[in-house]
Amino acid sequence: MSNAGGQSQPPDQGFRDAMRRLAGSVTVVTVAHNGERHGTTATAVTSLSMAPPSLLVCFNRDSRLHGLLSTAESFCVNLLHTENVAVSKLFSSPVSSAERFASGTWHDDASGGPYLEGAQSSIQCAKEQQIDYGSHTIFIGRVLQVRNREEISPLIYCNGGYARAAVLSGDKK
Ligand SMILES: Cc1cc2nc3c(=O)[nH]c(=O)nc-3n(C[C@H](O)[C@H](O)[C@H](O)COP(=O)(O)O)c2cc1C
Repeated sequence: MSNAGGQSQPPDQGFRDAMRRLAGSVTVVTVAHNGERHGTTATAVTSLSMAPPSLLVCFNRDSRLHGLLSTAESFCVNLLHTENVAVSKLFSSPVSSAERFASGTWHDDASGGPYLEGAQSSIQCAKEQQIDYGSHTIFIGRVLQVRNREEISPLIYCNGGYARAAVLSGDKK
C-alpha cells in the first residue's frame, strides 16, 4: 500500500496531487461595489479567529473577483449546500456576472455582497486586510452578519469532483 511515507514527488506535482486529497467546503464569494456585483467559486476559505470573528479568502490575481475585492470594503462568503452544485459550476465558468446571478435566488444586502437564498450559510464581512503572496492575495474579513440554514449539508470539493460529508458510523452527531 502506498502512503504519504512512500515515494517522494517533486513539489509541483506532489503538491497538486496532495491538494486533490484536501477536501474543501465550496463557497461563492460575492462583492457589490460601484454599482457592479460579481461572485466567484472558491474553496480557499478558512475561519481565522473568534476574537474578533474573522475569516480569510484567497483569490488568484488573474480572477475578476480579485480586482473588485481589492477595492471593495466588504464581501459575502456564501457556503454552498449540496443542492448548489449548479451554482458552483456556473460561478467558476467563464461567463458574465449577469449570467452567474441568473442561477439561484440572490438578494442584495446593504452590509456587503449578494447572498444566496438556500445557501448553507451567508457570512457578510468587512474587508480588514489584504496580503499578496505569489499568484494570490489573502483577504481577511471581519464578520458583520451571518445567516445560517438550519439543515447542515455542506457541498464538498475533493479529488476534482463534488461530494457530501458523511458521518462515520458509530460517531456521535
Ligand atoms: C471548486 C472550485 C474551487 C475554486 N477555488 C478557488 C479559490 O479558492 N480561489 C481562486 O482564486 N479560484 C478558485 N477557483 C477558480 C475560480 O472559481 C475560477 O477561476 C473562476 O472562473 C474565476 O472567476 P472570475 O475571474 O470571474 O473571478 C475554484 C474553482 C472551483 C471549481
